[in-house]
Amino acid sequence: MRVFFCLLSALALCQAAYDYKNGLSNTLLFYAAQRSGKLPDDHKVTWRKDSALNDQGQNGQDLTGGYYDAGDFVKFGFPMAYTATVLAWGLVDYEAGYTSAGALDDGRKAVKWATDYFTKAHTTPTEFYGQVGRGDFDHSYWGRPEDMTMSRPAFKIDASNPGSDLATETAAALAATSIVYKTVDPSYSNNLITHAKQLFDFANNYRGKYSDSITDARSYYSSSDYRDELVWAAAWLYRATNDSTYLNNAESLYNQFGLQDWKGGFSWDAKVSGVQLLLAKLANKQQYKDEIQGYVDYLVYTQQKTPKGLVFIDEWGSLRHASNAALVILQAADLGLSADTYRQFAAKQIDYALGDGGRSKVVGFGNNPPTHPHHASSSCPPAPAVCDWSTSSSPGPNVHVLSGALVGGPDENDSYADDRSDYIQNEVATDYNAGFQSAISVLVTLGY
Ligand SMILES: *[C@@H]1O[C@H](CO)[C@@H](O)[C@H](O)[C@H]1NC(C)=O
Ligand SMILES: *[C@@H]1O[C@H](CO)[C@@H](O)[C@H](O)[C@H]1NC(C)=O
Repeated sequence: MRVFFCLLSALALCQAAYDYKNGLSNTLLFYAAQRSGKLPDDHKVTWRKDSALNDQGQNGQDLTGGYYDAGDFVKFGFPMAYTATVLAWGLVDYEAGYTSAGALDDGRKAVKWATDYFTKAHTTPTEFYGQVGRGDFDHSYWGRPEDMTMSRPAFKIDASNPGSDLATETAAALAATSIVYKTVDPSYSNNLITHAKQLFDFANNYRGKYSDSITDARSYYSSSDYRDELVWAAAWLYRATNDSTYLNNAESLYNQFGLQDWKGGFSWDAKVSGVQLLLAKLANKQQYKDEIQGYVDYLVYTQQKTPKGLVFIDEWGSLRHASNAALVILQAADLGLSADTYRQFAAKQIDYALGDGGRSKVVGFGNNPPTHPHHASSSCPPAPAVCDWSTSSSPGPNVHVLSGALVGGPDENDSYADDRSDYIQNEVATDYNAGFQSAISVLVTLGY
């Protein structure tokens, strides 16, 4: 579409296009930089080494692996599961984009890095570890993850301390990733489905918000509602298994919960619009198509925008919200809803992050990218040089280029500062890159 559009219009518009394929490979490098645990021989981010090799459950279970959340080193399970689901969503629906960018293998490995960890953390059918590391211990440290010595306690949900949102988001991640691996590694794929089904039953039978059980997560990733994730997981389980019980479950819970009139964003805490997209696709009913179209029209025509046109939902990680919106809008376009308008609008959101906002907001990519992301490990010189709070507050750029990381982004007036101490505008996070990466995979697939 864009190519055609380009030929017919002014050259200036054509020059605004970015190298989306390169963008896709780059954002995968950010996930490699966030890896915790024992790194494989083919690890591409060479300044990162093995770390947190003693992460374990309350009975000594191996909890190594998974992803560090953001600029810090806590492994927060809820946003990590969301990240894996959203990355797998892109791989399931836009594999062609990954293939044409030469990024399919790395894309599959990025989700597997999370799902390998989730299957370890799922220690019994009704027990799941949803966090390793304590927020305040972790956040009083600035240094390399390879060197950290603070205590890293592990926190879990179980039948007496439920967490339906955490368990079902993880189930969604496992179900979606099972589709990614269905033909690549059938036995791995089947194992993911087994865990996903057990986690769904656990969540459904013992209901509650995980942040009421894992209270340390409250200050960071407090959950507002577990019901959207319950429906989301049922829809993904249906997609992964074709078992109509899950579709019936998803539809009846969706209607019972009255989730129809959602006007918030799509994010680690909020899956309603994702549910509407999946139901529209899987149940193929007009009701869901109307609902998602109503929501997307709201985003496109009513939601606040910055003067330069960025969808503005929240100042904390504004680009992540706009990228998530772009992914939802692109998915809606794939259902045949206002496809050209929606796609052009969504591409504008991604282009803002890639440079249209005045400079690139992706580390190591494009014109004048951020060099001071709020991210401890990339700020540190190679060991054994000292890395501490004086490194954090030093004026120089991060020593290592954290390639592919999308920073928080501008305020409502397009104002942004590349300042390491600003964790609202300049932190990076595994959840930030997820919708962004999947949206780019759509643009590559479309040939934009
Ligand atoms: C579900 O059905 C679709 C369409 O018939 C098929 O392509 C897919 O492989 C099936 N998935 C499973 C897990 O059976
Ligand atoms: C954005 O600009 C408007 C109008 O000048 C102003 O009222 C508002 O406070 C600004 N917002 C921020 C976050 O600075």
